[in-house]
Amino acid sequence: MLIKHPHDCLPSEITSRELFERRRDFLKYSIGAGIGLMLPWTGAKAAQKKFSGLKPSLFSTDESPTKYGEVTTYNNFYEFGTDKGDPAQNAHKLRTKPWTVSLEGLVKTPKTLDVDAILKLAPLEERIYRLRCVEGWSMVIPWVGYSLSTLLKQVEPLGSAKYVEFISAYQPDVMEGGGFGSALNWPYVEGLRLDEARHPLTLLGLGLYGETLPKQNGAPVRIVVPWKYGFKSGKSIVRIRFVEREPQSSWMQAASSEYGFYSNVNPEVDHPRWSQARERRIGDFIKRKTLMFNGYGDQVAALYKGMD
Ligand code: MTE
Repeated sequence: MLIKHPHDCLPSEITSRELFERRRDFLKYSIGAGIGLMLPWTGAKAAQKKFSGLKPSLFSTDESPTKYGEVTTYNNFYEFGTDKGDPAQNAHKLRTKPWTVSLEGLVKTPKTLDVDAILKLAPLEERIYRLRCVEGWSMVIPWVGYSLSTLLKQVEPLGSAKYVEFISAYQPDVMEGGGFGSALNWPYVEGLRLDEARHPLTLLGLGLYGETLPKQNGAPVRIVVPWKYGFKSGKSIVRIRFVEREPQSSWMQAASSEYGFYSNVNPEVDHPRWSQARERRIGDFIKRKTLMFNGYGDQVAALYKGMD
């Protein structure tokens, strides 16, 4: 495992998110254009609750986070529409209170926890991860959460449990994007092998930029698997099922030849319809090389030893 020193303080603690971004914009545009005039992002946002006392994480990248305005308005959440701006427009309709997550399937005693209990299970960390979408764009997101393994330990799996399935909320009356216009089966389902799910990098995401998750980013609780293409990171999770066989994810059901179960980021394996060698970091002009396992190979490559 790659051992790194945690950051001394969190980007969200140094200054407020708006000031942080304003300062970055100022520097970027002052240097780039020799002009210091740049208006901060002023898009409307729903009130998010701020977390205090977040712990920095050993797993954080020191790359600059993508701007809050981009992280929260350039989204994939097909239940709310297929255009990148649709989730920010429509996801406010998602009902998130009350919200529970059930741990079920091949376990000794199933358990259901509400979000308040989930928030108290472990100290919340800020983890700044790269996110690489299968479509060829990427971001750097300062998530808030803790390792999913902490939640999984709340139940005792049976010996036959080999995989976990993540089931997203399905509220058809408000998820108009899911009712028509998209070929996916609902609810959105994703899955991991049990050892992948228990890997310390796999995050139970409860917030971003020091605050609770905006609905378009998968409030109130989502999965984040930074070494896999973004579609493996299910949003607005309500059920986690321990199962014996490889789960059939929504994307596998829709197009198994394009979206495989593992879907580890790999610049050497192209998508059948486009290259995966490079990516566009949102906010950048020039494409960059995509890294094997999205740059997390030191931590996760051992999970796949002996596989083709
Ligand atoms: N989860 C659900 N329930 N529905 C979705 O459409 N899209 C996935 C993933 N999780 C998706 C989902 C895809 S394709 C990506 S790239 C990421 O969410 C995007 O997360 P973000 O919008 O927070 O950046």
